[in-house]
Amino acid sequence: MTAATEAQLARLTEPYAGRPSELIQALHRVQSELGYIPPEAQAAVARALGVPLSQVRGVITFYHFFRTSPVGRHTLRLCLGTACHVRGVEHILKAIREELGVGLGQTSADGLFTVEGVRCLGACGLAPVMMVDEEVHGKLDAKKTKRILRQIREGSG
Ligand code: FES
Repeated sequence: MTAATEAQLARLTEPYAGRPSELIQALHRVQSELGYIPPEAQAAVARALGVPLSQVRGVITFYHFFRTSPVGRHTLRLCLGTACHVRGVEHILKAIREELGVGLGQTSADGLFTVEGVRCLGACGLAPVMMVDEEVHGKLDAKKTKRILRQIREGSG
């Protein structure tokens, strides 16, 4: 870690020093500034707040909106709301994993897609639904999901 990074992390975590109950706020601040929460930032947050690193990692894993890798060129928001859940969103997530090699909160190795989980996209009648950048894709199944991702990838070349 460079001295500049260290100073930046110290500045970001300083308001939360010694305040374990503000772990989520501290992580939000780091993510809003860096775009994601890399391992060195996780360690800095743990140190500053006085909580175990395992707890920091646990919180990041639990809440889908925290990212541990940089944001990709396209943001894929997969709806995890009730209607989409009932209509088999787990098959869509599996298709995404197969196509992109990553799951929720992660960015594909080619840097093209960041996958996020959201609670409801307001298009429940089209469940299961995902949004890629500003475009909503509904009535998904595994095949359609993969086709959409391939088309976007080819268009990004
Ligand atoms: S629950 Fe998925 S769009 Fe509303």
